[in-house]
Amino acid sequence: MKAVVFDRYGPPEVQTLLDVPIPHPAAGEVRVKIRATTVGRTDTATLRAHPFFARFMTGLFRPKMRTLGMDFAGDIQAVGAGVSAFQVGDRVFGLMPDVFGAHAEYLCVPSDGAIAQIPGDLPYDQAVVGEGAWYAHGTAQLLGEGQRCLIYGASGAIGTAAVQLAKARGAYVVAVVGTRHLDLAKSLGADRVINYEEDDFTAIGETFDVVFDAVGKTSWFECHPTLRQDSIYAATDLGPGWSNIWLSLWYGLTGAKKVQIPFPVEPEKFIRQLAGLMAEGKFQGVFDRNYPLEEIVEAFRYVEQGQKTGIVVVTP
Ligand SMILES: NC(=O)c1ccc[n+]([C@@H]2O[C@H](COP(=O)([O-])OP(=O)(O)OC[C@H]3O[C@@H](n4cnc5c(N)ncnc54)[C@H](OP(=O)(O)O)[C@@H]3O)[C@@H](O)[C@H]2O)c1
Repeated sequence: MKAVVFDRYGPPEVQTLLDVPIPHPAAGEVRVKIRATTVGRTDTATLRAHPFFARFMTGLFRPKMRTLGMDFAGDIQAVGAGVSAFQVGDRVFGLMPDVFGAHAEYLCVPSDGAIAQIPGDLPYDQAVVGEGAWYAHGTAQLLGEGQRCLIYGASGAIGTAAVQLAKARGAYVVAVVGTRHLDLAKSLGADRVINYEEDDFTAIGETFDVVFDAVGKTSWFECHPTLRQDSIYAATDLGPGWSNIWLSLWYGLTGAKKVQIPFPVEPEKFIRQLAGLMAEGKFQGVFDRNYPLEEIVEAFRYVEQGQKTGIVVVTP
């Protein structure tokens, strides 16, 4: 089968499309014929080993995994011994946090892992919604019914998912986006949309239970006017001078937890919840463009620009 392989950290060009053996499902695993995957910011950061300390998880000197790709959608082509939850021909989607491997034609996945049936007849390339939703889920789960949330950068993979997951939890959502994404943010269900190119989102006269910077462009200090004493500032990035790390450690020690980089847990449970929301029409992916697997280097270059709207799809 064809797989995109890399053996050292670096720019998109360190990856090569190679012929590698088709994997065989072990006991408890299923083999998925991948019909769609994505290139996300987790892939681009892992490829470059950025930030450096990520190497402690992905391999200090060389990457532990040879193939990136967190999202997959496809059909089950073979099942290992003892698998009863899925059968050959099932249309499935899922997520491979930490292990990756979906930038290939086939992938073996634990049947009790982050894998679920694709709701209805949703096309494969609209079912690869996991990566952004997964990180958005880390913050969305901080929210309860009627709570107030500001989502800064609601046009990326994480931001578009965060608006929908926050609304699904019954939160009031203010989305901050640029001019070209105003209509998109409204269509996702945001209660109020602020154009960061024209207005200062910190001067809108509202405060929030949770302020979520989904694109790493603000800081806790900048967002102060929107935060109360008991509010949480959540971020996906390290912040200027790694301030989000230092502040989250400090507030973690004091027990106040005012600054967080929320890491989601239990991906298998989350994917099933997400499938439920998709089936109910409460969650749908926002897609930017598609690349064939042969052009994956171009897909990485595009995603690295930090300008995509939602999700970039790759089809093997
Ligand atoms: N913690 C983790 O493990 C983890 C995992 C994945 C990603 N991340 C981080 O999470 C962030 C978001 O990832 P993503 O995949 O959602 O990003 P993305 O899809 O690449 O976000 C791009 C979007 O951000 C918007 N944007 C750019 N500059 C902006 C600004 N100054 N203010 C508001 N919006 C702006 C762009 O639209 P406009 O320019 O038109 O506004 C574009 O739509 C990234 O910074 C990434 O490093 C962290």
